Amino acid sequence: MPALVVVGLQWGDEGKGRVIHSLARHAHAVARYQGGNNAGHTLVLGPNDILALHLVPSGIVYPKVHCYIGNGVVVDPKSLKQEIEMLTQRGVKVRGRCWVSPLSHVILPYHLQLERYLGEGSRLGTTQRGIGPSYRDKIARAGIRIIDYLDDEIFKERALANIQELLTPFAKPEEIRVIENQTLSDRQSLAPFLKTIARDVSIELHAALKKGRRVILESAQGTFLDVDFGTYPYVTSSNPVAGYAPCGVGIGPQAIEVVLGIAKLFTTRVGEGPFPTEIQDDLAAQIRETGHEYGATTGRPRRIGWLDLPLLRKACRINGVNRLALTKLDTLSGLSKIQVCVGYSLNGRILKELPDGLRALKEALPVYRELPGFTGDLTSVTRYADLPKQAKRLIDLTLDYCQTPAAIISVGRRPQNQIILDRTFCRTWM
Ligand code: IMP
Repeated sequence: MPALVVVGLQWGDEGKGRVIHSLARHAHAVARYQGGNNAGHTLVLGPNDILALHLVPSGIVYPKVHCYIGNGVVVDPKSLKQEIEMLTQRGVKVRGRCWVSPLSHVILPYHLQLERYLGEGSRLGTTQRGIGPSYRDKIARAGIRIIDYLDDEIFKERALANIQELLTPFAKPEEIRVIENQTLSDRQSLAPFLKTIARDVSIELHAALKKGRRVILESAQGTFLDVDFGTYPYVTSSNPVAGYAPCGVGIGPQAIEVVLGIAKLFTTRVGEGPFPTEIQDDLAAQIRETGHEYGATTGRPRRIGWLDLPLLRKACRINGVNRLALTKLDTLSGLSKIQVCVGYSLNGRILKELPDGLRALKEALPVYRELPGFTGDLTSVTRYADLPKQAKRLIDLTLDYCQTPAAIISVGRRPQNQIILDRTFCRTWM
């Protein structure tokens, strides 16, 4: 059985965790391939039982699924330990089934401090988890991988050199000393923990795929936060796109059979940056409340906008999406009208493709097609035929525009609140 990549097609928070929750039950493994604890994957386990995961793959809720954190992920050891402890306290057995690649780079206290000094939180709206500074060290060939973290000499030499070099322009020597001491004492307590969970993810996944087992590759963030394809510089520092998935876990691209693109039937974004279909009136507040649109990591209210079809179509192309999962149809129920962006107007011209330039992205005005709204509680609908006519119109327009078939439409927060459109896909993967 080959691999399936779950990738977000907007600016993150599309419902990837929720879709993996319904897919992973019979998978052999779920592996995260990029990002870090900037991610927040929310799983609704019961009426009042919500689990927010930041680093541990969403498959962890199923006792037989192996969970891997790949080399493409940046790992804050303290945060990973806390998440594993939280899961253990909640009765999830993590021991012996959650592993991290020794090639993953770590996030250290100086990364968090550097992000503060650089003002990236306010300038870019980052999650302030040290993600950018850790990836910066990796690309600059000065980073510390888990394998280096476990080597006393290499760790000390590199960490102390980096702290001096990177913090000296911003901090007094006594402040730098505090960070140095914290870094060394953290490592003292965290290295034994990391040692117990470090495993060669590439070897493990390769063996699983060879035996024909199902492997899900889980992205964080979304296509338009991708450092290459996103709304640069308002992006994260990694590559959430599906093309990076094999690289981020150490398998070959030929293993990937399905690229499942996840898209919400409206759009949200957290943090700064252009967002052509953003709405700011009472309607935005209504959608935010109905859809629980608050960041799972930072609690920030998400910016709200209408569905942007050219953006979605571009994401399908970049990722090679061959199945779609459309989420949160239920959130739109009760609106009298629904706007769907089908192009942009820029300096008197109509664009059919989302532009790349920052100025064009900021100035492009959406061209909308207005659809009538629909009403009713959709959460128990399990057949496409039973959806309101106007809801079907929205879905049909989306699929037609993207020229990609849908496998799943989600109509509620629980894994069972969904309509299966592609039975063959679901028989294979669920
Ligand atoms: P960073 O990843 O913390 O460096 O933040 C860079 C940008 O990505 C900011 O706009 C964040 O709000 C956004 N971002 C990072 N992780 C997520 C996520 O999981 N969901 C949505 N936005 C995210």
